[in-house]
Amino acid sequence: MSAKKILISILLTLPVFMTARAAEKQISVNTDDLSIILSVDKSGQLLFRHFGGYISDPDCFSGFKSYRRSDYGTDPLAYPASGGRYFNDAALSVEFPDGDLNCELLYKSHITERLDDNVTRTEIMLADAKGLEVTLVYTAYEKENVITAHSEITNTGRKPVMLRNYYSASLPVIAEKYYLTHFYGAWAMEMQVDRELLTHGSKVIESKKGVRTTHTENPSFMLSLNTETFDENYGEVIAGALAWSGNFKLNFQIDETDRLNILAGINPYASEYRLEKDRTFVTPDMIFTYSFAGAGQASRNLHDWARNYGLYDSSVMCPTLLNSWEGAYFDFDTKTITDMIDDVKDMGLELFVLDDGWFGNKYPRNNDKQGLGDWDVNRSKLPEGIAYLGDYAHEKGVRFGIWIEPEMVNPKSELAERHPEWVVKAEGRPVTTIRNQWLLDLTNPEVQDFVFGVFDRVMQEAPTIDYIKWDANRHVESFGSEYLDKQSHFWVEYVQGFYSVLDRIREKYPDVIIQACSSGGGRVEYGALKYFNEVWTSDNTEALSRVRIQYGTNLIYPACVTGSHVSAVPNHQTGNITPLKFRFDIACAGRLGLELQPKAMSAEERDFSKKAIASYKEYRDLIFNGDLYRLASPYDSDYYALMYVSKDKKRAVVFAYCIRYQGRALLPLFRLSGLDPALDYSIKELNVDKSCFWGSGKTFNGDFLVNHGINPKLGKIYDSAVFYLQAE
Ligand code: DGJ
Repeated sequence: MSAKKILISILLTLPVFMTARAAEKQISVNTDDLSIILSVDKSGQLLFRHFGGYISDPDCFSGFKSYRRSDYGTDPLAYPASGGRYFNDAALSVEFPDGDLNCELLYKSHITERLDDNVTRTEIMLADAKGLEVTLVYTAYEKENVITAHSEITNTGRKPVMLRNYYSASLPVIAEKYYLTHFYGAWAMEMQVDRELLTHGSKVIESKKGVRTTHTENPSFMLSLNTETFDENYGEVIAGALAWSGNFKLNFQIDETDRLNILAGINPYASEYRLEKDRTFVTPDMIFTYSFAGAGQASRNLHDWARNYGLYDSSVMCPTLLNSWEGAYFDFDTKTITDMIDDVKDMGLELFVLDDGWFGNKYPRNNDKQGLGDWDVNRSKLPEGIAYLGDYAHEKGVRFGIWIEPEMVNPKSELAERHPEWVVKAEGRPVTTIRNQWLLDLTNPEVQDFVFGVFDRVMQEAPTIDYIKWDANRHVESFGSEYLDKQSHFWVEYVQGFYSVLDRIREKYPDVIIQACSSGGGRVEYGALKYFNEVWTSDNTEALSRVRIQYGTNLIYPACVTGSHVSAVPNHQTGNITPLKFRFDIACAGRLGLELQPKAMSAEERDFSKKAIASYKEYRDLIFNGDLYRLASPYDSDYYALMYVSKDKKRAVVFAYCIRYQGRALLPLFRLSGLDPALDYSIKELNVDKSCFWGSGKTFNGDFLVNHGINPKLGKIYDSAVFYLQAE
């Protein structure tokens, strides 16, 4: 840190209040390498001047002139509101009680407070004279180079104000070109990468599905500046992710001045919000970072921030596990489960998870058509109960987990018979089922109590439960709530209800590991990850499909949260057959699990699995806490390769896969990243008798590995290798 930065840091330990009106002033939000600079102009507007590299003296912007003609609107505003002279999509759009649709936010005051030696929070108060206050909250995480932003909107008038747009943040960017990377997909093919050069007009990334909201698009992006390519190691990249578990919208609009205006937040779709007098609406955090060393550094900034601030207790390493789903589906009894627990123990795994099918008596949950909502253990399948299974596991030194889907109900269930009024439905319209189920209305506090109660009861019944898989297998259609007066509050209040249940759960059960599953990766976003330890990345367990799914997911979300399981072949989703080693090598790049019937494995397969599980446990701290470097992208290459490096650069693990056969002439060369060129590293291929790399077992200079690289013989599709590196 420079002397000037240290002085600024010391000054920031004191809260600073500024309340001058109508005098030009500069406000800066800084991390180690980044600055956001905002200026209050003479009329009191809060202008957005800069997001990018660190600027030590924000007063350089005093007297700044953009030379923009006034008929092209205002200079970029920090939080643009509709009306006045603002013509792009607005962060805030309101209707005042007198019917006025214009909003003019003027600066009132700001305060900057140092929360600890790494985090600074800046709150800037703006107000419209007709009775609205908006506080912009920027939190800067210095060493992670991440800044989060959200707004807090307060009705200070006498009557309700209608909020139409209420985005978390607005980010104006100026560059010659904007190359956007974003994510699309569907069930079993989440987080596929789309890349495109933005042109004038708007590009929207959004969800209108409420629950299961990240299957089709994800509230995150990477933006490469001044280029038409995506590069791991070079160039300027802005990355962003929204922490919200409901409808989202990210709007990228290039205007006539070639400026890109990014809006991010709750989707305004059908969500007009009536803000009562004296009430405050708090929008979710939008997380931004800026890298000068390509997409790789942007990912690592987000991952560091997530581990340090964004995830629910990242100090817990989610255990290796066997999940019963693909191995047993609904067809099991106590013996099937205790045998699986024995197999967990024998194979060196650490946790067993009993998936769907364990509950329901009047309507036994023997398929997905009935029983959902009736959370009593099925007495004919499991007469000894859940606690017995938990005890059985614990006696063997195995941890125990169970599946629930508490937000949902089958029409054929005792719960649906008792509480039809709890179901999400629009008055006078058919209630559609998805996977034979309805959605419970979490806007209703009674339903919130019920959902909390499902979790609580399961935990009370079997206090040995260490892990809960929380599933949600449908999205919202034909929305409506019997509980709500104003139907357009549904989308927001559902998520608020969800969070309030999770707050109660975390208060009472801080140590239970909880996985967010939503038909696979339907809840992969930083709002859920404040409560959940990990996500079920996808229902697609097939290793080749997983390459793209895991590559995309880990661009934004760290590997410690991505559950990744080895399953049987032919794969149940795709029918594809891949070697067991390839399946393990893919699954070991995230949180490793198995999802198959161990009894169906040959002795040879079991033997290999045991070795792979044992070696994973030796290096998994690198997957959970190391820096991720992508060496080859499945979108640009016939290989996928990545590595995780310990923070002290003394240890690393490299994964490399051949994902397409490309003739016998071509073989890969992977230049390793993130190592210290001045150190010597031993390199050893794991889980093989004969290595595919001539250098396995040797020691190399770091500069050789970084500047030349390794050339494992991975010539055929599904050839794969895992290398462990240790500094000597
Ligand atoms: C969908 C999940 O994604 C699966 O892993 C499994 O838990 C099933 N639901 C159970 O119904």
